[in-house]
Amino acid sequence: MLSAGLALLLSGGRSSSEVMPKDDSLNALAKKRGRFFGTAVRTDKIWNDPAYRTAVIGECGSITPEVALKWDFVEPQEGELTFDPMNSIMGFAEANDLDVHGHTLLWYNSMPPWAARKILETRDWTIINNHFANVLRTYKGKIKYWDVINEPIEAGKRWDGLRDGVMLQAFGPDYIDHALRSARIYAPDAKLMINDFGFEYDTYDENDRRWLLLRLVEKLKKAGAPLDGIGLQAHLDLAKGSLASKKIADFLVELRNFGVKIIISELDVKEYDYALPAEQRDQRVADHAKQYLEVVLAEPAVIGLTCWGLTDRYSWLDATDGDYKRLRGPREQTGLNRGLPYDANYGRKPLYYTIRNALNA
Ligand code: XIL
Repeated sequence: MLSAGLALLLSGGRSSSEVMPKDDSLNALAKKRGRFFGTAVRTDKIWNDPAYRTAVIGECGSITPEVALKWDFVEPQEGELTFDPMNSIMGFAEANDLDVHGHTLLWYNSMPPWAARKILETRDWTIINNHFANVLRTYKGKIKYWDVINEPIEAGKRWDGLRDGVMLQAFGPDYIDHALRSARIYAPDAKLMINDFGFEYDTYDENDRRWLLLRLVEKLKKAGAPLDGIGLQAHLDLAKGSLASKKIADFLVELRNFGVKIIISELDVKEYDYALPAEQRDQRVADHAKQYLEVVLAEPAVIGLTCWGLTDRYSWLDATDGDYKRLRGPREQTGLNRGLPYDANYGRKPLYYTIRNALNA
């Protein structure tokens, strides 16, 4: 007997009861405006949770592996390549007509320790080339967008705003330019992106971050680096106050003027007060996202919207978890963060309808 997961995997992830008309999906609405709607996905949930699968297939035109492409996941030990989980996501995507967003080739937070050690020891770019070749060749022609660099910006440290880390230490500030050019060799037809967070609020840090990203894009474009797009993560946060709507709009125009496309790549809303009744919490989340989406979806360079998960059940923002709980105050404020379109039981929340209306506007 095949396990349910394996049987589904072999059938490409579609069971007859799940085939849904997609013309009313969030992606269908987005598509009318020339955009896509997508979500981050977890491999195990695709195979183990039918309601999750149904929601993803029913709403999305694009999926982003939440973990399965990160370097420490695909190559935990040097030469030990682990592509099975990603291949199963590709199978699911193909069977259900979903695009796949490649996240991510280089992220300081997902570099395997062996690679960090070797890079610092040898400063040999071959290590980067090998990694890019392994991943990009495997999915050549199948993945259109690649986050080549994730989270390169850090304000308040260096004049150029580049985050300190292994890549910067080993190869200097041009490592981003080099990485884009290397990626281009192995993925000649893909759109190459830089993805980063923290561009939404009127804080000292985020004002700086917007400026620093613009300077980075300007420099790369002037140098002729193959940069096609910018991913704005959009991890909104109710603790950070009101959105810098005008500044965001200007920032998007400046990005567009550099000739890059923009994807809102990881939308969710971190809550502040977990003690309120659920309806109030959901309304706060939706109202905040509405303000944000009104600004970003008015910008023609924005070509897609991806949420960092569809359901609160599997959000990376776990209110009961470690650091996050410590930062957010009293112990009794536990439970799931309610910052995604579906609640933990796949009920559509106000945020779902906010996204619908914004995509449709
Ligand atoms: C997060 C995942 O959601 C977690 O499951 C994982 O443990 C760590 O990474 N910015 C990014 C994403 O670009 O890759 C991160 O994803 C969330 C923050």
